[in-house]
Order: sequence, then structure tokens, then C-alpha cells
Amino acid sequence: MIEYKSLGRTGIKVSELCFGTMSFGGRADKSESEKMYKTCREAGINFFDCADVYQKGVAESYLGEFISQERDKVVITTKTYGAMGDDVNEKGLNAKHIRLGVEASLKRLNTDYVDVMFLHHFDPTVREEETLRAVDRLVSEGKVLSLGVSNFAAYQVERMLHVSAINQFAPISVIQPMFNIAKRMAEVELLPMAAYEGLGVITYSPLGGGLLTGRYKDGYSNASGRLVENQNYNKRYGGQFYEQVAREYSELCSKWGINEATLAVAWVMAHKQVTAPIIGAAHTEHLKQSLQAVSLTLEPELLKAIDAISPPPPPATDRSEEQ
Ligand SMILES: NC(=O)c1ccc[n+]([C@@H]2O[C@H](COP(=O)([O-])OP(=O)(O)OC[C@H]3O[C@@H](n4cnc5c(N)ncnc54)[C@H](OP(=O)(O)O)[C@@H]3O)[C@@H](O)[C@H]2O)c1
Repeated sequence: MIEYKSLGRTGIKVSELCFGTMSFGGRADKSESEKMYKTCREAGINFFDCADVYQKGVAESYLGEFISQERDKVVITTKTYGAMGDDVNEKGLNAKHIRLGVEASLKRLNTDYVDVMFLHHFDPTVREEETLRAVDRLVSEGKVLSLGVSNFAAYQVERMLHVSAINQFAPISVIQPMFNIAKRMAEVELLPMAAYEGLGVITYSPLGGGLLTGRYKDGYSNASGRLVENQNYNKRYGGQFYEQVAREYSELCSKWGINEATLAVAWVMAHKQVTAPIIGAAHTEHLKQSLQAVSLTLEPELLKAIDAISPPPPPATDRSEEQ
């Protein structure tokens, strides 16, 4: 049975799995997208992650249509930052793009408000006050209920929190970093910071974009999927370490008789600081394997074996033995 958790200190209750809609209108056509939406709802998921750039607004339009009969029963996110057109100002965290971008997202989502609006990436060209004032206005107008940041370093989140506090702007309440068995960088600073600040944490790519599903266990050369077809993902998961993780992880799953995707999602869920992993799929059958994670309990021995394949990163500071 799926459980519900508080999203940081927002008080909003969200399912312990969030479904990510990045495949809507891309690797999943409309009917498959709708089928996945319904499968999630039947499983008890009330939390859906989206972004303006997912298929240039198509994912938002699909999601808007699917939620239309039950808008207030679901918690939805969207994001702003990425280029949505050719104009020089149609990107970034400047006040103009934030205002026009969020208004356009609301139209596509066919709703008056978005539950969480994420700044999709840090924008070093814009003063934090500019960005935060622009989003604070959207919060005051009721168009955005809570704010989040994605792909920010811990010091950038802390800086945003400081600027909001001294200006009495709405604070950042949620972070969205990448986090999976093969990519554990969030453990160093982001997750401890989230605990300290009481932030909600929804992490993306629990399967490493497919790396942790068995489809790359024999290497990349004869495989198909995002890691070989998409240049960014190819760079992100390219190299000997990731190929070795894919292979050894699959061997471990066979030994324990556990589905690769189910275990990878359960591993992220098991981190005490994670509110909900954002699961992704292009097919309902794949989605179902990730949904099984809610009923999997991880033995300490299994966690140790996973650490041996992909070790926890060293802490950000040394001399912890003296504390
Ligand atoms: N904030 C950000 O910058 C950011 C970035 C990325 C994602 N996200 C969010 O996080 C969500 C999930 O991210 P993600 O798609 O990268 O997650 P993921 O769970 O790491 O990867 C999902 C992909 O793995 C493959 N897959 C899933 N289940 C499978 C199975 N059982 N067997 C074999 N392959 C399987 C599919 O790849 P194929 O598509 O190749 O079939 C699927 O699209 C997105 O929808 C989005 O909402 C956010």
C-alpha cells in the first residue's frame, strides 16, 4: 500500500512515489501516457512532476487534460528555466521569462495554480533577488503554492534561502536533485542540507535513465534506449564505471531474485531524507515494475552489497571521528 508523506514543511501530503511525465508526448504517445497516468492513480499516486520543456509544452498539455476531472485531488509540479522559443528572453531565471513562462504553463496545464514550481537550473546571470521577487509575486497571486529548485548545488540553495528570508519572500521548500545507486553525489551536501533546513526532497532518475534495469548489462554497444540514443545521457552515464555498475548490479539482482527496476526505486525510497523518488517510464509494463518498490523491504546485507558495487561518496569535510 502506498503511503503519504509531508512534502518538507509545506504540510502538503504526497504519495511516497511521484510520477514524472517527461516521456509524455515523446517516448510515450498520448494513449500510453494516459494509461500510465491512470495506473498511477489506481496505485494511489497523487503526485506528478512535469516541466515546460518536456516536449516543448506537450507533456504539460497532456497532464492538464488527464487531471482535469480531479485537479484538486492531485499535487502537480512544473518547472521554468529552459528555452521555450527562439527569443533571447524566452529562457533563464529572469523576471520576464518567469512571469511569461509560468503563465503559459498554467494555460497548458489548464489550471489556476501549480502546487510546486521549480526553478529547473541555477542561472548565474541573474541576481537571486530578481528571480525570487518574480516567483514571490506568483505565490502572492495564488498561481504558485510552493517553490522548489532543481539541479542546484547546496550552497546555491542556501543562498536562495538567505535572500528569501531577508526580503520576506516565499522560501524554497523543495529540492529536486538527481539521485540513484550509480549517482550518489546528493548524499554529500544536498541531502544533509535538506535535513537541516526541513526541505522536501523529490529525486529524479531512480533507474539512472535505464542503466539500472538490466537493459545495459551486456554493455552499451548492442543495447537500445536513452543512454545510447541521447547524447546528454550518453555523456552522463558513459565510461567504464557505469558499465561495470550496470553489469554487477544485474548480477546482484539475479542472485537475490529481485527485479532491477523495483530494487533501484526501493533503494532511493529507503533514504530517510527522500520524500519521494520521481519514477519515469515510457510503457505501462515498465511503470508497474517501479510501482512494486512500495512493497519491497531491503535487508542490511543487500544494502551492503549495493555499496560494494557503487560506494557512498566521501563526506564533504573530514575529521568526523572527532565529533
Ligand atoms: N529536474 C530535472 O532536471 C530532471 C531530469 C530528468 C528527469 N526528471 C524527472 O524525473 C522523472 C524520471 O526521470 P527519468 O526518466 O530519468 O527516470 P529513470 O527512472 O531513471 O529512467 C526512466 C527510464 O528508464 C527506462 N525504464 C524504466 N523502467 C524500465 C524497466 N522496467 N525496464 C527497462 N527500462 C526501463 C525507460 O527508458 P527508455 O525511455 O529509454 O525506454 C524510462 O524512460 C522524469 O519523468 C522527470 O519528471 C527531472
